[in-house]
Amino acid sequence: MTGMALRDILIHPDPRLKKVTSPVTDIGPELERLADDMLETMYNAPGIGLAAPQVGVMTRMLVMDCIKSEEGAPRPMVLINPRVTWVSDEMNTYEEGCLSIPEQYADVERPAEVKVSWTGLDGAEQSEHFSGLWATCVQHEIDHLDGKLFIDYLRPLKRQMITRKMVKLKRERARERA
Ligand code: NI
Repeated sequence: MTGMALRDILIHPDPRLKKVTSPVTDIGPELERLADDMLETMYNAPGIGLAAPQVGVMTRMLVMDCIKSEEGAPRPMVLINPRVTWVSDEMNTYEEGCLSIPEQYADVERPAEVKVSWTGLDGAEQSEHFSGLWATCVQHEIDHLDGKLFIDYLRPLKRQMITRKMVKLKRERARERA
């Protein structure tokens, strides 16, 4: 039996985080293993969402769970080829972060509610109406599949400042590993 494994999370700047990913065409054991690993990696971080390109897999899949542990049972979700089919006119601002941009947070405005359709790991089509943190999270993660990061919504100066910090962080981590 193969257990779940933690995957390395790519840190911005990385060209793989800027690419548009390819649709999933084959749902099989390899994709199931990737989904399990991504959930494990996300919970371990800890985070509430993770997209495949963040672990270097250039495919349209994301995982998320926006239930806080004190609120009740976890709700791990796996979305394959997700697409937004409706957005509300009402907007909402959340202070967002990203596992690929550690310890950096900024307000991002997005539609407050969205409808999303996707394929599940069982191959069945699903759709759901998301609001609150779930709506923000699913939009943030779908952005990853299109090579877009939350800092792309910020003013250039702020974005450059965060990117410089990440370059420094990556240099420090590389030195620690050497
Ligand atoms: Ni992110």
